[in-house]
Amino acid sequence: MSPGQPHITRRHFLRNLAGGAAVVAVGGATWRAIDQGVFSTGDGPAYAAWGEWDDRSGGFLALVRPAVLAANAHNTQPWLFELGTDRIDLFADTTRSMGAMDPLRREMYVSVGCALENLMLAAQAEGLRPAVTLLPDPSDETHVAQVGLGTGGREESPLYHAIPNRHTDRGAYDTSRPVERATLDRLASLNDVVDLRVAWITDEAGKRRFGEYTIEATVAIANDPEMAADSYAWMRQDWDQIQREKDGLTVDASGLSDIVRALGKLLPAQSQKKIDSSWVGATRTRTVATASAFGIVAARDRGDDRQRLEAGRLWQRLHLAATDAGLSMQPLAQTVERADRELSANLEPVFTNALAELTPEWQAVLPFRVGYPTGEPALSPRRPAEEVTRS
Ligand SMILES: Cc1cc2nc3c(=O)[nH]c(=O)nc-3n(C[C@H](O)[C@H](O)[C@H](O)COP(=O)(O)O)c2cc1C
Repeated sequence: MSPGQPHITRRHFLRNLAGGAAVVAVGGATWRAIDQGVFSTGDGPAYAAWGEWDDRSGGFLALVRPAVLAANAHNTQPWLFELGTDRIDLFADTTRSMGAMDPLRREMYVSVGCALENLMLAAQAEGLRPAVTLLPDPSDETHVAQVGLGTGGREESPLYHAIPNRHTDRGAYDTSRPVERATLDRLASLNDVVDLRVAWITDEAGKRRFGEYTIEATVAIANDPEMAADSYAWMRQDWDQIQREKDGLTVDASGLSDIVRALGKLLPAQSQKKIDSSWVGATRTRTVATASAFGIVAARDRGDDRQRLEAGRLWQRLHLAATDAGLSMQPLAQTVERADRELSANLEPVFTNALAELTPEWQAVLPFRVGYPTGEPALSPRRPAEEVTRS
């Protein structure tokens, strides 16, 4: 377990059970609780990567350890690192696809871009001077970047130190503490790519519109059998499976309170319908309702792989800077996932048009929310550097 990670102790759990509706026979429940990792949140091989992030052993493998902690869609971790003597080549792993949830592979490229940003920060902290070439091989669209690693000055930025503390926060945000405009502007100033921008939505009417579109897109995904099934394929409800696969979306990282999470882990696996209906409910009552502001990382062309990779780098930088400033963030990609689905399946462009209205002249790549936290977000599983690296 990493420092600061909320941890349910057996005593805390049993006290809560006793105080609530203690309908489960304690012996059996305790056994199942142990089996399902109720007392082990953030522990085990699936979470070890968080504790090894600054292990400097193993040559360039030391740069991959922080890279694998990057944000990535549905925690699919669609990346592969090839270590050379003077460079690292980064590949997208298309076998870890989200299917109809990401039919145009936008989120795959954004995710690998996030990992690239962590890799760059780690290289600088290691005293190397990284030189990136995006999409270096026109004949291989999965070869997303080549990072040359010459020697340079050591630079340990606050963003680098935020790498193990950055987590997607799906909990409620503090509605009594708005994020100041100057803070948002400072975050947006981290963008140094002309083809990208960060748009903030802070006025009540704009926030209402963004919220409605996000809720409607969530419902549309839940009602689209192919999208719903491809999303459900990445849900991890079994503790053994989490420890084995070290990926996917878990109950622990869902933003629920300790006791509800514990009960969620105790219950038999939830059906796709049940998870989707909880997701729609949480989007309405927690996600959208408690955001201080919404933001959109937008590009000139969201179909362009280079801009998608740069958008991923920017998202990772924004989230690290927000973490450093004590803020929470959560991507809310449903509207863009739906717009990509409309394009690929030739559907009516409902969310394509809604997004064009939110960021005229620009194309939304990754919408998100920001606010001050009310709790501590949980760790997500990760495949360690060794499992995603080849020489
Ligand atoms: C392109 C992209 C899209 C994402 N979309 C969502 C989303 O719609 N909702 C959400 O809760 N998290 C979303 N996330 C966050 C990931 O689920 C999260 O990064 C992943 O599960 C790993 O967890 P961590 O960020 O806490 O390390 C997205 C992340 C990326 C990079």
